[in-house]
This record gives sequence, structure tokens and C-alpha cells, in this order.
Amino acid sequence: MKITFIGTGYVGLVSAIMMAYIGHEVTSIDIDKEKIASLKNSIIPIYEPKLEEYLKIAKEQNRIKFSTEYDDKIFASDAIFVCVGTPELPSGEANLEYIYNSIDCLINFLHEKSVIIIKSTVPPSTCKKIDSYLKAKNLNCHIVSNPEFLREGSAIEDFLNPDRVIIGVESAHAKSIIAKIYESFSLRNIPILYTDLASSELIKYVSNCFLATKIAFINEIANLSEKIGTNIEDVSLGTGLDRRIGIEFLKAGPGFGGSCFPKDILALKDLAKKNDVNINILDAVIIANNKRPFDMADKILKILEANNIKDPKITFLGLSFKSGTDDLRTSPSLEIIKILQKKEMNIIGYDPISMKYARKFIDNLECADSYLEACNNSDAVIITTEWEEFKFLDFQAIYKKMNSKIIIDLRNILDRDSIVKKGFKYFSIGRKDE
Ligand code: UDX
Repeated sequence: MKITFIGTGYVGLVSAIMMAYIGHEVTSIDIDKEKIASLKNSIIPIYEPKLEEYLKIAKEQNRIKFSTEYDDKIFASDAIFVCVGTPELPSGEANLEYIYNSIDCLINFLHEKSVIIIKSTVPPSTCKKIDSYLKAKNLNCHIVSNPEFLREGSAIEDFLNPDRVIIGVESAHAKSIIAKIYESFSLRNIPILYTDLASSELIKYVSNCFLATKIAFINEIANLSEKIGTNIEDVSLGTGLDRRIGIEFLKAGPGFGGSCFPKDILALKDLAKKNDVNINILDAVIIANNKRPFDMADKILKILEANNIKDPKITFLGLSFKSGTDDLRTSPSLEIIKILQKKEMNIIGYDPISMKYARKFIDNLECADSYLEACNNSDAVIITTEWEEFKFLDFQAIYKKMNSKIIIDLRNILDRDSIVKKGFKYFSIGRKDE
């Protein structure tokens, strides 16, 4: 199939490259000239493991082209995927400006067989509104909702092996086109659920908000667990092994971040409010997650105080909102750093991938070129992102570099016994540490 993708953010770029990889003929358009120039040179502007390799394959097979121009190729496309950002407005409402800008750019190249597939996360009824917007311009196209569930850091695996594909479609022509696009998935028995447009749009919000709720809940249970001396890792596993609950997204940590969960909760809350419905749970999730960085900062300060450490130097290992990505948007690590910076703490950060962008997000953050340099003369090392390599650091070398030997593991990734054996004082989440 001939497919055009609009937008080369995480969702648009991964989807375009992977659709080309599975055999479609793809054109990926973005108005950002720099991004397109770098993609033409096979340089991926984001960090996503293995994506560069898949781009190489797609290019070798001549199945992907990048462009800044909306042109006649769009007219000849079987489908156009819209994958632009929908950030939140101050009210929490999703900002649909970029969606409508893209639709406006497409207008001259649409016809009655055009199928526009909205992959961006949009509130229910957006697809219908786009349809009416185009009809008012005498364009009877076909609008489809096809939300994306891929996670940064494991986007390729998520694209190739999704738990399900959700398709909101209300026209037979569009259904036949999208069925062809996803044919290789149905042949592999991956569930494809067809719904009406608005239900598909809502599924995306409900999924993200439900996952965020699980995390906020287990984080509050971790607070309790710490107080009563239970082990949150056992509690999560023992609870999650119940198949009705599931073990995923039950890992306690410094709070959820990223570009999706925080904004999608606000957008769902805004939608509910506009419809005179209370989703009280969302308020609790927002309160719990907003408080999380303050709880973490408090925990760090209490540990330092209990160990009589004055004017400490603190090392943050991990800046991105989770491992496997360079994304710093709404990163709990940065939120905690900002709180401690206000208390004039001496902080140094290190991240294997995201450091080059850190200064765009946070003022005056000193960063080190290596984790050992970051640990030099440090009084406390705080692990805030669960990078796999942090499990295998040279802790003997860290010990020699550090001043006070305190490790605070906000992701529970280290083995307490082996860290304590090396002479450190070890503190973690949701467990009594001493
Ligand atoms: C999320 C959704 O998972 C994905 O389906 C959607 O399309 C986009 O939003 P992503 O933002 O890449 O993906 O991150 P995700 O892996 O879901 O993690 C979100 C946040 O929750 C991170 O800050 C992560 O560290 C945190 N998290 C996740 C936990 O604290 N505990 C967990 O058990 C899981």
C-alpha cells in the first residue's frame, strides 16, 4: 500500500519506518527541515533502540522517502496517517492546532477515496469533527481512528507485536484499506478490534490513564510498605500474579513521567468535566503523582540528615523519564532535582543518553561525562532512571570516589545485599532499609 505519514515525532517516525519495513511504500512528511535533512542522511533525530537499523533496511528496499513538501504523492496515497503532537493547553484540554494545521496542508491533495487515519491521541469526537470540517469544504473523505500504544524505548517490539490493534472506522472503503494495511498482523493472529470512531479515541485515553492509575496506586502502597516494613517488590509481584491484575505497571518508583501519561490524564479529566462527569480516581492519580517528587526529595533529605551529612554533594544517575529513551519530558528525576536545587543543594547529574538535552529542561544542572566522574566526592548517589547498565556499575570504584557512601535507589534495581557488602549504606523504595 502507498502510505503518507505526517509528523516525525516518536509515534510518526517509528510507525513510518516500521510500516515501510513490513512492506508498504511510505512517504514521511514533516515541516521541520532539519529533521527531514537528517533522516534523508539516515540519522534518526531521537534515541530509539534499533530504529536506525530498521530505517536502513527500509531504505535499502527503497520503501521509505522523507519530504518537507505536501505534494501530489499524497493524492496517490491509499492512506494518510496523521501523527502530530497534541500537547495540553493550560486547561488540560488537548491542543488540536497541529492536527488541523496538517489537515489544512492536506486539503489540496484529497479526494473522495482519501483515507485519513488519525494516530495522534485525540479526544473522542475529534475524528467526527475533522470529517465535518472537511465536508464543509466539500471534501467527502474517510476518517479513521487508529491510536498508537507503543512505548518509547521498546517501540519496535511494541509495533511488531502489539497486544491489539484498535481501529475506529465507520466507512466500508476505509475499513477495507486499513484491513489491508494491517493484513500481516491479522495473519499473525494479532487481535484487531474494530469500533466506532469515538470509542477508539477513548480507548487510548482509558488505557494510558488506567496504567498511570496502577503506578500511582502502587507508589502510595510503597509509602505504606516502607512504614510497616513490608517489601514492595514482593507485594507487587504477589498482587500482580493475579491475572485479573497483571504484574506490569506495578513497579514502584519515583512517579510516572513522559509525554503521554501526564497529558492524557489531564485531557480525560477535561473531557469528563465538559460532559458533567466526575472521574474522581483521576484527581487522586494527579495528586499522588504530583506529590511523588516531593516525597522523593523529602526521603533524600531525611536520609542525609539522619547520617549527619552537612552541605552534601548529590549525584543523580539517570535523567530521562525512564530507561531506553533520551526523552526528558516530565521526568521525575528532573522534578526531584528542581526541588533540591531550590534548597541550594550541590547536584551533579549523569545519564548515558539524555544528558545533551538536559540543559534545555533545567537551569544550572552540572553534568558529568561519566558516572565515575559524577560520583567524585559525592555524599549520596541517587538512582532515578532504571538504565540496565546501572545494575552493573563498578561499585568498588564508586566507593573509592565517594565521600559519604550512601546509595538511594529510587527504582529498586540494585541488589541490596551485594551493595551493603561493598560497604555502602543502601536505601530503596517501599522497603524498610535498616
Ligand atoms: C506510554 C504508554 O505505555 C504507551 O502505550 C502510550 O502509547 C504512550 O505512553 P511511554 O510514555 O513510552 O508509553 O512510557 P511507559 O513505559 O508507559 O512509562 C510511563 C511512565 O511510567 C515512566 O515514567 C515509567 O518509569 C513509569 N512506570 C512504568 C513506573 O513507574 N512503573 C511501572 O511499573 C511502569
